[in-house]
Amino acid sequence: MKKISVFNLKPGMVTGESVLDFNRQLIMERGTSLTENSIRRLQAHNILAVAVEDSPLTEGIAEYRDPLLDLLAEDEEEKAPTAEQISYSQRIRSSEEYKQFRENYDLNIESFKSVLNNVVEKNVDLDVGVLLQDTLNTVSNVRGGNLGVLDMLHNMREYDDSTFAHSMNVALICNVLATWIKLTPEEIEMATACGLFHDIGKLLVNQSIITKPGKLTDTEYSEIQNHTINGYKILKEQNVDTHIMNAALMHHERFDGTGYPLKLRGDQIDKYARLVAVADVYDAMTAARCYRGALCPFRVIEMFEEEGFQRYDVAFLLPFLENVVNTYIQNSCLLSDGRKGIIVFVNRAKLSRPIVDIDGKYVNLADDPNLTIEALI
Ligand SMILES: [Fe+2]
Ligand SMILES: [Fe+2]
Repeated sequence: MKKISVFNLKPGMVTGESVLDFNRQLIMERGTSLTENSIRRLQAHNILAVAVEDSPLTEGIAEYRDPLLDLLAEDEEEKAPTAEQISYSQRIRSSEEYKQFRENYDLNIESFKSVLNNVVEKNVDLDVGVLLQDTLNTVSNVRGGNLGVLDMLHNMREYDDSTFAHSMNVALICNVLATWIKLTPEEIEMATACGLFHDIGKLLVNQSIITKPGKLTDTEYSEIQNHTINGYKILKEQNVDTHIMNAALMHHERFDGTGYPLKLRGDQIDKYARLVAVADVYDAMTAARCYRGALCPFRVIEMFEEEGFQRYDVAFLLPFLENVVNTYIQNSCLLSDGRKGIIVFVNRAKLSRPIVDIDGKYVNLADDPNLTIEALI
C-alpha cells in the first residue's frame, strides 16, 4: 500500500484505506476502484492524499509527503541558513515571543485541565474569572509584537488532541476575531470565555471515541454530538453567564439550520455561539489531528469559501478570513506545482487565492484553478 497525492491518482487504482473528511465523515470506502469522477470528488473534498493498493498503476509514483515536513527537513539539512533561507516556521519558533507564548500556553493548559476536571468530576465551583484572566494574559503578552496569535498557533505543529488544547486555541482565536471586528472590551472577554468553555461537555465523552482514528459508529457519533447538551448542563449548574451556556449548547448549530442539536438557524443561534463556530472549525481544520496532519490556512479558507457562506454567520466569517489572509501577506509559500513565492496582495473576491510574487512576476492564483497554496514556508 502506498500514500499518493490526489493529483497523481489514476482511474483503476484501488483505495487501501477508507477516505474520511476532516469531520471524519466517510467519503469513500476502502477497496473502491477509482474513476475520473471519484478522483474529482476527492479533490473537491480537499483531500490531500489517499492510500492505494500496490498495482502496476502505482509503480514509479512517488509516495506522498507533507510538503511542510519536507521543507522543514530541507531547512534542517542546511548548515547555516541565510536570513532569506530561514523558513517561516523556523523564524517563529526561534523567536523570543514564541518561546514566551509557548511557556504561558503550556502553563495555562495545565491549570485549565485541573480546574475543569475538578468541575466535572468533583463538582467543584467553576471560577470563570481566573481561567479567563490567564488566557487574556497570554494574548496581551503577544499583542504589540510582530507575531500574531494565529502565527503562534499555526506553528505548534506537534499534535495535541486534548479537548483542553483545542478549547484554549478556540478561546485565543475568538479573542483575535472579536478584536478584529472591534467588539467592546467586555464583548471580547465574553467571546474568549465562550471559546474556553464551548467543549466542556466533551469531558464526559469517552476519550477513546474522541481520538478514534477511524470512522465513528452511529452510537459513537451521537455520543459526541451530546457534548453540546452535556456542556450546557454542566455550565448551568455553575451559574455562569447565559452566553457561555449557549455557546456550549449551540456552537455546532449552523446558520442554515443544518447543525445540531436543535437545528436552530440564523438569529436563533446565540451571537457568541456563531462566533465560536467560526473559530472552532478553523482550529479543528488547521490543528494537526490524530487522524491527519494540519491543513494549510489557505486550504481551510478555500473550504470556508466553498461551503461556509450559508453555514456560518458572514458577519463573523468574512472579516475573519480577510484578516487571516492579511496575516500572511509578505509570507513565503509553496505552490501546488512546487514553485515558491511570496504572497503580495489579497484577492477580496477569492480569499484563498491571493496574488503571489514568483521570481519577480506577479501570478494571480484566482486565474488558475489548478494552482493552490500548499504550505506557508
Ligand atoms: Fe464542539
Ligand atoms: Fe470545539
